Amino acid sequence: MLEVHDVVAGYSSDVDILHGVSMHVEESETVTIIGPNGAGKSTLIKVVFGLLSPREGRVVFQGEDITGLEPNAIVERGLCYVPQRGNVFPSMSVMENLELGAWTFKGDFDAALARVFDLFPVLQERVDQRVGTMSGGQRQMVAMGRALMMDPSLILLDEPSAGLAPNLADDVFENIQRIAGTGTPIVLVEQNAKKGLAIADRGIVLDTGEVRFEGPGDELLEDPQVGKLYLGG
Ligand SMILES: Nc1ncnc2c1ncn2[C@@H]1O[C@H](COP(=O)(O)OP(=O)(O)OP(=O)(O)O)[C@@H](O)[C@H]1O
Ligand SMILES: [Mg+2]
Repeated sequence: MLEVHDVVAGYSSDVDILHGVSMHVEESETVTIIGPNGAGKSTLIKVVFGLLSPREGRVVFQGEDITGLEPNAIVERGLCYVPQRGNVFPSMSVMENLELGAWTFKGDFDAALARVFDLFPVLQERVDQRVGTMSGGQRQMVAMGRALMMDPSLILLDEPSAGLAPNLADDVFENIQRIAGTGTPIVLVEQNAKKGLAIADRGIVLDTGEVRFEGPGDELLEDPQVGKLYLGG
């Protein structure tokens, strides 16, 4: 589904944040990226989604080289992104947010809406509620629902559980598993490394712009070095 080859990227011409990062996502796979603050996780996602052009390396999506394409062209190809911050329109209703998610969608709007309501029934109950008045967990459902309105072939989620109370964070992980259950491949960036790895088929540890560990989620969870360095012992 997705291949990232030897990506070097940064925000200014003299400083590299990613130093040759490679990763891939297979069909129906959930891949979780963990790593300390500032490791370059969001930067990697931004490169994949075309928000940042890599200095070197390539991004291939479903066999097509998408390196350097604009985000709107990437969305059209079925790759959707839920950013770490600012991922909903708080002054608009749930329905308006979902409609905006589908504004360039060429498929069946009603079918897409039905799929989102099927995954997140609470959104159907609250179609007219202003999203700014919803709980953090519900907002994350709106954010994910918005991305799902494009019927994506792959979805990038950047720290969907950030800032949520533990029980709401658990709901978010459950929601991600539901999306994964529909066969949609997911790249998940998570601060909550243990839970993020627990729901992953594969995990990647990114540290100072390099991949340090990679493997099945449960193997990384049990790896003593990963545990000591990245999972709080
Ligand atoms: N827009 C930007 N302009 C300049 N530097 C940036 C920008 N965004 C991020 N950086 C820098 O790039 C580095 C990696 O940041 P990034 O946001 O990718 O980390 P992260 O792994 O997502 O961290 P976190 O877990 O805190 O979200 C950091 O040193 C950060 O300060
Ligand atoms: Mg980040």
